[in-house]
Amino acid sequence: MAFDFIRSDIAEQKNKSRYRQLICAQTGNYAVKSVINDNENNKIVINGKSYLNFSSNDYLGLNNHPEINKALQQGADRFGTCASSSSLVTGYHYAHQALEAEICQWLNKPKCLLFSSGFGANLAIFNALGKNSDSHFFLDKLSHASMIDGAYQSKATVKRFSHNNIEHLSSLLTNAKISPNKLIASEGVFSMDGCQANVSDLAQVAKVEKSWLYLDDAHSIGVIGNQGEGSNSIANIDITMATFGKALATSGAFLACDENLHEYLVNFSRHYIYSTAISPALAWATKTSILLAQKEQWRREKIKELSALFIDLLDDSIEVIPTQSSIHAIIIGDEEKALAVSDLLKKQGIWLTAIRPPTVAVNSSRLRVTICANHNTQDIKYLAECINKAIV
Ligand SMILES: Cc1ncc(COP(=O)(O)O)c(C=O)c1O
Repeated sequence: MAFDFIRSDIAEQKNKSRYRQLICAQTGNYAVKSVINDNENNKIVINGKSYLNFSSNDYLGLNNHPEINKALQQGADRFGTCASSSSLVTGYHYAHQALEAEICQWLNKPKCLLFSSGFGANLAIFNALGKNSDSHFFLDKLSHASMIDGAYQSKATVKRFSHNNIEHLSSLLTNAKISPNKLIASEGVFSMDGCQANVSDLAQVAKVEKSWLYLDDAHSIGVIGNQGEGSNSIANIDITMATFGKALATSGAFLACDENLHEYLVNFSRHYIYSTAISPALAWATKTSILLAQKEQWRREKIKELSALFIDLLDDSIEVIPTQSSIHAIIIGDEEKALAVSDLLKKQGIWLTAIRPPTVAVNSSRLRVTICANHNTQDIKYLAECINKAIV
């Protein structure tokens, strides 16, 4: 049979308890009611059964927000659902321009560029900056797959520093002193661990070493900072990427940077140039998401309050990675055990996907609990009680 590896790779995946399957999920309010009801937004319906959802990236609880839905409809009416072209042909609309302006003001950055996905934006930046072998990239060991792929697909020399280890980063930078083109890259909040990068230290090292700092703020945007502006609330970041598909509850991504890099990407980034611009209706809706994320500080406070309660209620013997974010990683270790705990929780009406290799390192399979602004005290108490029973 042609492409024989397909069968054998799948068989191996099953043997290792790493097999993945698509599950068709509906958010609670759509599935069980025809009206928007905030109390149902933390539920998910799978095969007709409703679960409390602790695996969502809807950190601020903005998904299905009536103002965002209304803006989406208005955006569709004014600009259409589709850009109908790449940005440089005729796909760049007023909705995109207005969204970019909003992001620049929010993050205090001169320029911003929109992409259809965070994955694409990461490929774009590393491929563009890694044009030649005299570019050097220094990536945190736990950087997202799309950063790693982008870096290794480029012509740059790539080094990975131990997770959040500034000394290791500094020693790698010292060895590459002769290179004029150095980029330090990390996630702002790490997607599978939930912990934050040492943003101030990274910015300081970048300044001393005349390097640029790139942060993927996919899990920081909306959640970190008094106005949800992410890592830019901590230090000046040369280039920030964040997706719209998590706390901002739409879809797509942005790269915020200076004028020179913006001009370069518009002219040379293949991922930007040869791709249809994001839906103008979605861009319009995202602008409303950002306004809500900026002004509704209570959503960030609620995440903090509920997270503190959760940690407090968990049995002391359970290992959780400390964090200021929405993501709380409970390390289980073995794939099979992580799946078993996740299945047990499902029986209690809790949806908590087990995260296994290769997404995380071997022997570090985990439950990635996300606490969102649409959870309540009762949900958290129930979650902690079920996890304590399932693990201890
Ligand atoms: C850290 C990080 N970067 C990039 C992405 C990709 O973003 P998108 O979903 O918009 O492609 C994700 C997750 O999806 C992520 O967790």
